[in-house]
Amino acid sequence: MDDSKPTRLRWMTGTALAVVAAVAVVAVARPQAPDPVAEIEPLTDGDFLDDGAPAPEIVELGRVLFFDKILSGNRNISCATCHHPSLASADAVSLSLGEGATGLGTDRAAGPDQPVLGRIPRNSPALFNVGAREYVTMFHDGRVEPDTVGSLGSGFWTPAREQLPPGLDSLLAAQAMFPVLSEEEMAGHEGENEIADAVATNRLGGPGGAWDLLAARLRATPDYVALFQEAFPEIDQADEITFVHAANAIAAFEATAFRADDSPFDVYLRERDPTVLLASAQRGMDLFYGEAGCAACHAGALQTDHGFHAIAMPQIGPGRGHGRDDSYWRATGFHARLEDFGRYAVTFDPADLYRFRTPSLRNVALTGPWGHAGAYATLEGVVRHHLDPVAALEAYDIDQALLSPAATVIEPTGQGSELRFDPVNPARRADHALRDGWVQQTDALRGSIADANELPSRTLSDGEIDDLLAFLHALTDPTSRELDHLVPTAVPSGLPVAD
Ligand code: HEC
Ligand code: HEC
Repeated sequence: MDDSKPTRLRWMTGTALAVVAAVAVVAVARPQAPDPVAEIEPLTDGDFLDDGAPAPEIVELGRVLFFDKILSGNRNISCATCHHPSLASADAVSLSLGEGATGLGTDRAAGPDQPVLGRIPRNSPALFNVGAREYVTMFHDGRVEPDTVGSLGSGFWTPAREQLPPGLDSLLAAQAMFPVLSEEEMAGHEGENEIADAVATNRLGGPGGAWDLLAARLRATPDYVALFQEAFPEIDQADEITFVHAANAIAAFEATAFRADDSPFDVYLRERDPTVLLASAQRGMDLFYGEAGCAACHAGALQTDHGFHAIAMPQIGPGRGHGRDDSYWRATGFHARLEDFGRYAVTFDPADLYRFRTPSLRNVALTGPWGHAGAYATLEGVVRHHLDPVAALEAYDIDQALLSPAATVIEPTGQGSELRFDPVNPARRADHALRDGWVQQTDALRGSIADANELPSRTLSDGEIDDLLAFLHALTDPTSRELDHLVPTAVPSGLPVAD
C-alpha cells in the first residue's frame, strides 16, 4: 500500500487515459484489501546480532562449548543434547530427559544407571533465528528479557535478578547463563558436584558461584584457554576467562548456526514473485496473513508478535509446580504440583494465566512435537487445535505424546547432610508416572486452561487447512535439514560428543 502512493503520484503526471487504464488493471487484478504480506520486509544481515557476522573465532569457541559436556555439573550433558543440529536444533520428543539420562532424541532413556528426577517440564524449543534482533524475550514464558528500567547492572531482567553479571552482549547470551544452573537440565543434584551445590545454596554470581566454578573448569583446560584468547583478545591470562565470555560465544554460535532465512517464503519476500511458492502455499500465505487470522499473533517475517497468548494448549508432564492444586499429592503421596501457569509466573498479572509466547513458525515443519509441552505429535494436529481450542483441549489424546521411557526415576530423601537421591520405590512408580497425564485428566485443571483461552473459534475447510500447511512447509529453509556439519568431532575437554 505504501509503495503505491508515489506510483499513483507519478501516474498523475501522465495522460489521463494511462491513469484510467492502469487503475482499471490494478482493480481487476487486486480486488481485495491491501496485501498484508507486502508490508513484510525480507530479513537481511542487519536483522541479526552482529549484523549476521560475529568474529569466526568467537563462533568456533561457541560451537565447541555448545557440544561440550564440561558445562554440566556431572559432565554428562551438553546444550546439543536437547538442541541437536540433526534434530532441528531440538530433540524430537515432547519433554526432554535431562542430565542423568543417556542417548539422543527418541532414543534417549533413563535406565537403572542413568536415573533422572523426572521429565523436563516444557518442550525443548528449536533455536532457529533466535539471533534475530527482534526477539525481546527468551523462553516459553519470556522470563529472560531486557531490563528496561535499568535497575539491574546486567541490563537483563532474569530469574537470577542482581546476581547476573554485566558484560552479556545480547538477550541470547543472557539466556545461555541459565541452562547450566538447572538441576534437571545440566547442573545435577545437590551433593553430586560443586556446581549443583552452589546452585542449591543460591550462589550463582561472584567468586565461587556456579558460573565462576564452570569458568574454572574452562580455565583449567589448556585448549580452552587458547580458544578464549583467540576469540577475545582482551583476555591476557587464563584467570580472566569468565562464564560471561562463554555465554557470549555460545550466543554467537547459535545466532549464526541456526539462522534460517532462505526458505521459499524468504525468496518470495525478496523477489515478490508468487511462482516461487506452490499454488497451495500461496493460498495458504494469503489465508495466514489474511482471513484465517493467524498473523494476529504470528505476525511479521518470523511469524511472531513476541507476545503471550492463552490458546488452551494441552499440558502434559510434570509441569512447573505452579498453583495450589494438590489433587495429585493427595492421590499419590508425591509432594508435587503439576500446573504450568506460563507468563503469569513471571508477571503475576492474572490476565497472563496460561499465556505462552507466540512461537516463531520458521522451520516449524521440522520442529515437532509442538506446543509448549510438546503435546501435539503432528503439525496438522496443532494447527487444527487453533480452530476450536477448547474443544481440541477436551478431545486431546495423550497417547500421541512422544514421552521417552524413564525406567528409573529418583527422588530426594532426607535433608541437609542427610540428603540423598534414591530410586522411587517400584511399587510407587506407576503413581509417579501418573503425573504425565494428570492435568489433562483432571477436570478442574483442564477447565482452568480452557477458561483462560483467548483464541476465538473459527471455521476453515479441509482445503484451507491443507493450504495453511503448505504455507507452513514453505517456511522450511532447506539448509536447516542438514546441519550435521555443525557437530564437532571432538571438544577441548575430551568428553564424548555423541549425544
Ligand atoms: C535438558 C534439555 C536442555 C538442555 C541441556 C539445554 N536446553 Fe535450552 N531449552 C530447553 C527447554 C526445555 C527450553 C524451554 C524452557 C522454558 O521455556 O521454560 C529451552 C530453551 C532454550 C532457549 C530459548 C529459546 C527461545 O526461543 O526462547 C535457548 C536459546 C536455549 N534453550 C539454549 C540452550 C543452551 C545455550 C544450552 C546450553 C548452555 C541449553 N539450551 C541446554 C532444554 C534444554
Ligand atoms: C491468539 C494468538 C494466536 C493466533 C491467532 C494463532 N496462534 Fe498459533 N500459536 C499461538 C501461541 C501462543 C502458540 C503457542 C501456545 C503454547 O504452546 O501454549 C501457538 C502455536 C502454534 C503452532 C505450534 C508451534 C510450535 O512450535 O509449537 C503452530 C503451527 C501455529 N501456532 C500455527 C497457527 C496458525 C496456522 C494459525 C492460524 C490458523 C495460528 N497459529 C493462529 C498463538 C496464536
